Amino acid sequence: MMNKKIIAAWCVCASLAYGCQSNPTQNKQSNPTADTTVNLGFDSQIDGQEVRLFQLKNAKLTVSLTNYGARLVSLEVPDKEGKSRDVILGYDSAEEYKKNYNNYYGAIVGRYGNRIGKASFKLNGETFSLEKNDGDNSLHGGTNGVYNKVWKVVNNTATSITLAYTSPDGEAGYPGTVNMEVTYTLHDNGGLIIDYRATTDKETVLNLTNHAYFNLNGAGDPSILDHELQIAAKGITEVDATLIPTGKSLPVEGTAFDFTKAQAIGAHINDENAQLKIGKGYDHNFELDKKAGFQEVAAVYAPKTGIEMKIYTTEPGLQFYSGNFMKDTDPKGKDGKAYPFRSAFCLETQHFPDAPNHPGFASTVLKPGDTYSSKTEYRFLVR
Ligand code: BGC
Repeated sequence: MMNKKIIAAWCVCASLAYGCQSNPTQNKQSNPTADTTVNLGFDSQIDGQEVRLFQLKNAKLTVSLTNYGARLVSLEVPDKEGKSRDVILGYDSAEEYKKNYNNYYGAIVGRYGNRIGKASFKLNGETFSLEKNDGDNSLHGGTNGVYNKVWKVVNNTATSITLAYTSPDGEAGYPGTVNMEVTYTLHDNGGLIIDYRATTDKETVLNLTNHAYFNLNGAGDPSILDHELQIAAKGITEVDATLIPTGKSLPVEGTAFDFTKAQAIGAHINDENAQLKIGKGYDHNFELDKKAGFQEVAAVYAPKTGIEMKIYTTEPGLQFYSGNFMKDTDPKGKDGKAYPFRSAFCLETQHFPDAPNHPGFASTVLKPGDTYSSKTEYRFLVR
């Protein structure tokens, strides 16, 4: 847990925001002078812009976030004994996030979260070339994706913050000027809700998601293999050797991918299975068994701490990544903790990988005049 002084979100509006609508009453009640104290351990300048840490808090959750990549930095939830545990991986300073930008800790990834095959796609007959940052493919929007940008703070209260970023036409190879906004809100029921909205001035593709790495035993615990996972998906998107969809859906029944009933992540992760071999573990899009709209799609439970996380989303897919590319030698995280191989998992709500090259997948096209809208909730309980 970070024990450094965190600035109260509503107090730094003035220095960072455009159009900030913080509640003036709240400003008076808190102590603006003391609370605007810069967090010397974390704060920084990136691309000439101020990067800061913000805190949201309610009776159940304490969350810190930064405007660098609109990312979650810590997420403290009570365990079964009432002890607070920080369940996401991260760093103590903005510089460390910048240096290790390509692990995407806690960030909003895009413009296209997940992979685009051969780093290229066609839209209305025109070919768009993206950066190859994952072999021949493009991953999470390339090395200069939105996770690597300083976002603006549009609005914040004690339990909610809205961050905005305008991605210029052609940035990272994608067409259209895209105005995007992400709102994080804490709910009294233990939920952290992420709302995404975006518009464009030219037809484009967009697939935003949050890339938090979770360990429900607490970040820094050496493994997530004891966590019990359930995903409402009867199929996964088959991938080729470079983790690009072949276009085929594989039924999970009777395989290591069957999480329709809760099973430990570690139960079958080392099975002889061609798809597991390619991902070096789980690194696959689960095709969610859901209707249009917002609904529960997955749950993870850590027996040691009793912490359970339920996931609700409007998205059709869920990328389950079991931390297979994490290395025991990776740079240390918050409070000097090591984050070894498979010591965290990601569950990224999204449209399917490489959808722009698969007309059969749900479309990720965003047109001028339309509004991109997506919502995901991570809800925390104990049992
Ligand atoms: C991908 C992994 C990748 C990881 C990088 C995940 O979303 O599915 O293949 O290694 O991001 O942190």
